[in-house]
Amino acid sequence: YVIGVDLGTSAVKILLVNQHGEVAQEVSKSYPLIQEKTGYSEQNPQEWVDQTVAGLSDLLLDFKGNREDIQGISFSGQMHGLVLLDEDHEVLRHAILWNDTRTTAECKEIYDAVGKDRLLELTKNPALEGFTLPKILWVKKHESAIFGKASTFVLPKDYVRYKLTGKLHMEYSDAAGTLLLNVSEKAWSKEICDALDLNPELCPPLVESYDEVGTITEDIAEITGLSPETSVFAGGADNACGAIGSGILEDGKTLCSIGTSGVVLSYESSDDKDFGGKVHYFNHSSPEAFYTMGVTLSAGYSLTWFKDVFASEETFEDLLVDIGSVPVGSNGLLFTPYLVGERTPHADAAIRASFIGVDSSHERKDFVRAVLEGITFSLNESIDIFRQSGKTINTIVSIGGGAKNEDWLQMQADIFDAKIIRLASEQGPGMGAAMLAAYGCGWFASLQACADEFLKVDKEYLPNKDKAEKYKELFTIYQEIYEQTKGLNN
Ligand code: XUL
Repeated sequence: YVIGVDLGTSAVKILLVNQHGEVAQEVSKSYPLIQEKTGYSEQNPQEWVDQTVAGLSDLLLDFKGNREDIQGISFSGQMHGLVLLDEDHEVLRHAILWNDTRTTAECKEIYDAVGKDRLLELTKNPALEGFTLPKILWVKKHESAIFGKASTFVLPKDYVRYKLTGKLHMEYSDAAGTLLLNVSEKAWSKEICDALDLNPELCPPLVESYDEVGTITEDIAEITGLSPETSVFAGGADNACGAIGSGILEDGKTLCSIGTSGVVLSYESSDDKDFGGKVHYFNHSSPEAFYTMGVTLSAGYSLTWFKDVFASEETFEDLLVDIGSVPVGSNGLLFTPYLVGERTPHADAAIRASFIGVDSSHERKDFVRAVLEGITFSLNESIDIFRQSGKTINTIVSIGGGAKNEDWLQMQADIFDAKIIRLASEQGPGMGAAMLAAYGCGWFASLQACADEFLKVDKEYLPNKDKAEKYKELFTIYQEIYEQTKGLNN
């Protein structure tokens, strides 16, 4: 067996996985968000550790086999969160999370000091509030006494792994989301540190996602029931692990994951494409690979919003039951899902959503289909950016809420103009972490070989040529809506 720990924003989910990729046991433990002011989002790192240890203990309590049969453990983690440590590796303040938006001034400071183009060259990404470097600068400026005691920083899952092993590292897929990593050279950027007057010694040692960093400490082994011989592998960013857990391991393979927000993520074998910072471009957790990623902030959330406002008594199944009877284009109705602003491609917190083309004959089902089409168009904007760079996007694995409805899956095939795959069992980032442990343990010659054994296709959806053509025309109109409506709220 191997264990995959997925340290999320609301909970830690722990999977015990056997050599065929079957989930033998599953545990979830939640922890709170701390939101002291608007835009602030923090968590207490000790909670992550306590709940992970409690989850592992529960898992081992129910485990019928020999504890030595659990050979490896690895991690997937919420990205970008800043955990500042003193010289004894004690936590100096609560972690500032990926969805904290207090750092707009620090993003500007980064552009002023490093230069926008140079930052893109070095890190392949723009300065966004969610990333780690602006958070470091915020603490330096606003909490200088705390910052003065800082000797290093890590990301959420690195801290949990440190507490389980006593060994402190960061791995490349998460380091790529700090804005301090030279993504091509896989080395901390001294140039960025110097420009912002940061000591490069703050940056922890780097390892690969599948590297064994140590074993479980005697203390943790005693509390959890794990063997102290259990190998611990570094793990990866949750998006990288979600990709691995969905088999996104070769060129052409892309993931569409629709939860509250929506992500499209595409495998990238080289570091030399120029996306101009419009999509994220990070190191993958698989050897010598990268991925590009676009985010729609209100994906599933748009549907939840619609249901809450117009159909609060009904289930999602009731709401979606008729959408197959509405033609492509929802009888002339278009929706843009910018309910809370948009990340990709507009990076615009002020833009708001719209219904365009409302006719007195429209029924509720037209609106519901238009919402689904709008969410999918928004994700298609990222796919369009991938394709403009010359990438081939021909196979998309769909997971999350978007994979739960057959009409929506077919709509994705038609709008993305690609084959959509639904997996038989979908475990996302936790499975990716377990696969990194399985590969690290030497069970498979490659992560792809592991995916071949662990992941099974349930069903494929092929694009319908006529519908795909119609959607291409509508997509052009959809894309104009942003420009035409962005003045409304400014
Ligand atoms: C990625 C991002 C989120 C977090 C969520 O850039 O901010 O997807 O990784 O855990």
